[in-house]
Amino acid sequence: MEGKRKKKTLTEGNQSRILKTKEERKPKKNGGKKQGTLIESFANDLEGSKFRYINEILYTSRGDQAKHLFEEKPELFEEYHQGYAKQVEHWPINPLDGIIEYIKKNNQIQHIVDMGCGEARLSLECKDRIVESFDLYKANERVKVANITKVPIQKGWSDAVVFCLSLMGTDFHLFLKEGFRILKPNGLMIIAEPISRLKSIKGFINGIEQLGFVTIKEDENNVFVMLVFRKNAKNYVLNQNQMEKLKKKVHLSPCLYKKR
Ligand SMILES: C[S@@+](CC[C@H](N)C(=O)[O-])C[C@H]1O[C@@H](n2cnc3c(N)ncnc32)[C@H](O)[C@@H]1O
Repeated sequence: MEGKRKKKTLTEGNQSRILKTKEERKPKKNGGKKQGTLIESFANDLEGSKFRYINEILYTSRGDQAKHLFEEKPELFEEYHQGYAKQVEHWPINPLDGIIEYIKKNNQIQHIVDMGCGEARLSLECKDRIVESFDLYKANERVKVANITKVPIQKGWSDAVVFCLSLMGTDFHLFLKEGFRILKPNGLMIIAEPISRLKSIKGFINGIEQLGFVTIKEDENNVFVMLVFRKNAKNYVLNQNQMEKLKKKVHLSPCLYKKR
C-alpha cells in the first residue's frame, strides 16, 4: 500500500516535472502573461460585440418581437445583461441610484411598478415599499416576465411608475401608454434616459405634459436626464388623438454603444 501511494505521488511529481520541462522548452512568443492577456482581450471583444448586437436588436424591434426572441434564445438575455453590467461599471453615475434615492425620500410612494427592471435592484433596495418589477426575462425571483406594453397590474394601482433606461422598443409610446393606465391620479411617472437619445429635452417634456402630466423634477448631468411627472389627469386610457400627439412630439433615438 505504502509503496503504491509512494509510486503514485512519484508519478504525479514526474508528470508535472516533465510537463514543466516541455513547457519551459517551448519558445514563448509574448511571455505567458501577455498571451493570457491577448486571449482575455479577444474574449472581451467578442462579449462586447455580442452585447452591442443584442442592444441594437432591443432598440430596433418592438417589445413583442424582443420578447419572442428572448423566449426562443434566453441565453441572449444573459449575455446582454452581463454586457450591460460591464458597461455600468464604467459609468461615473447610474441614474437608477438617483431614482432609488428619490423614492426613499418620498414616503408617499408606496406602490411602485418598475418597467424594464433588469435585475430589479430597485425592488431589492426599497424593501419597505411594494415593488412590482417587469422585464422580458426572469433574471431572478423578483422579476416577473412581461412585455411592458401590457403588465398584469390593475389600472390606477401605482403611486409611481419607473422607466429607467427602458424605453427601448420602437413601440416605446405603448410603454408610456401602459404606464399612464396603471398610474393613479397624482401618481408619479419617473423616466431616466441618456440625454443623447432626446432630440430636445423641452420637446420631450412638452410631449409628456400634453397627456395630462405636470413636470415636478428635471435633473440632468452631461450623460443622463431624470424627469419626474405628476399625473394630473383622472382617466386611465390615452385615446387615439393623444397617442398620435405623443408619437409626433416624443422622439427617442436608439442608444447604440461604441466599441471601446
Ligand atoms: C438598459 S436596461 C435597464 C435596466 C434597469 N431599469 C436598470 O436601470 O438597471 C433596460 C431593460 O429594459 C428591458 N426592456 C426593454 N424593452 C422591454 C419590453 N418591451 N418589455 C419589458 N422589458 C423591456 C430590457 O430587457 C432591459 O432589461
